[in-house]
Amino acid sequence: MASGSDSGRGMWSNRWVFVLAAAGSAVGLGNIWKFPYIAGENGGGAFVLIYLVCVGIVGIPIMICEVMLGRTARSSPIHAMRKLADKAGVSRHWAFIGWMGVVAGFLILSYYAVIAGWALNYVLLTAQGTFTAISAEGAALAYNDFLASPIQLMFWHALFMVLTIWIVGRGVSRGLESAIRWFMPLLFVLLVVLLGYSFTSAGFEQGLAFMFDTRFEAVSGETWLVALGQAFFTLSLGMGAMMAYGSYLPENISIGKTVVIIALLDTFVAVAAGVVIFPIVFANGLEAGQGPGLMFITIPLAFGHLPMGALFGTIFFMLVSFAAITSAISLTEPALSYLVEEYNAKRKRVAISLGVMCWILGLGTVFSFNIWSTGYIVGQMTVFDFVDYLSQNIMLPLGGMLIAVFAVWVLPQTAVGEQLGIKSGFLSVLWKLLGGVVAPVCVLVIFVYTVLPLFSNLA
Ligand code: PFF
Repeated sequence: MASGSDSGRGMWSNRWVFVLAAAGSAVGLGNIWKFPYIAGENGGGAFVLIYLVCVGIVGIPIMICEVMLGRTARSSPIHAMRKLADKAGVSRHWAFIGWMGVVAGFLILSYYAVIAGWALNYVLLTAQGTFTAISAEGAALAYNDFLASPIQLMFWHALFMVLTIWIVGRGVSRGLESAIRWFMPLLFVLLVVLLGYSFTSAGFEQGLAFMFDTRFEAVSGETWLVALGQAFFTLSLGMGAMMAYGSYLPENISIGKTVVIIALLDTFVAVAAGVVIFPIVFANGLEAGQGPGLMFITIPLAFGHLPMGALFGTIFFMLVSFAAITSAISLTEPALSYLVEEYNAKRKRVAISLGVMCWILGLGTVFSFNIWSTGYIVGQMTVFDFVDYLSQNIMLPLGGMLIAVFAVWVLPQTAVGEQLGIKSGFLSVLWKLLGGVVAPVCVLVIFVYTVLPLFSNLA
């Protein structure tokens, strides 16, 4: 997966390659598709603020923990946790964190590939000029018609899965690295072009106000849970993806600084996507809380009214698809690296088997948008809602909390101090306070107030 070598496992060639790979994992559908629609459903400004707080005080410390654990153990997350538990002289049951990560990655990929398939279809639709000069109703109709067809969704879902598995199976070569080098900056440039468009749209002030005016009346315990889950999801935390990537990180690179750069890049893309989307929503009398379709209606609408919109729209959806692939790769990495290490199995074979199983599981999400749209499996949740809620809001935060507790309170702190280059007493206190207390306690408190009542309501 990475170049160079460290006992044959491979190693990122320098800090920037790691930043690109980790940012490739972090920046994906979570930023451009999910963040705006969740913010829309949760009232806007107050949610955005809470999300930023979660990224700052929970996300960044936990990413530092994950990357550090990976680099210390230099193996796949399940093996890493076993090795580190041995090193700390505690039970190997800590490997549970790795196992839960494998399951979470699998669940997330099952629906991630469905939505990324929509983006692939939108590459074609925009290239054909479907959205040129389209009305808001027309864009909504095109989206609804597409979702009503399980066959079409299955086809695009399959195509995305094949592309991902093909790349993963070959090993993530330098080709991907250099592609990321080009695509990520291009994605930033297109976002800036779209920012320019939304700046001139009639809904700009209203859109900004929606994103940044904090009306705390709308905030509940659930808002905190959703924001926390989104922070974990968008930074690819809590399931070992960053641990796996950290295991290829050379010794001499500062983890703290690198992680802050990754988090800032990721946050920029999410906030920019919101600032692009909401003015278009308001200028066209659309609904901010319309859910998963938000991006697939507003963005084609915007490009449909821009000069050379078909061309730029096509490029935009290509970039979104590419951002999704670089994230999907990291979703498979914990399971894949474990199976390859444990059974000495062929990477390609493991990748294909995982891909087929995940595609089948993804059918639950495909049908959630058409034939099973009222087939609720828990409360008012479709299969898609449930898989999404379970993985993002429960498994990732729980995994992240255990990772932080392990890194700060279980692992011998001399090893940690060396890894993170903590020399001063102040930094050491800060590390313990943020990683060992604030981050896990925040997760715990939010859990106690939101998830436990949910379970007792169901019982
Ligand atoms: N961070 C990705 C996104 O925002 O789209 C999704 C993701 C990738 C979540 C990898 C978790 C993960 F391990």
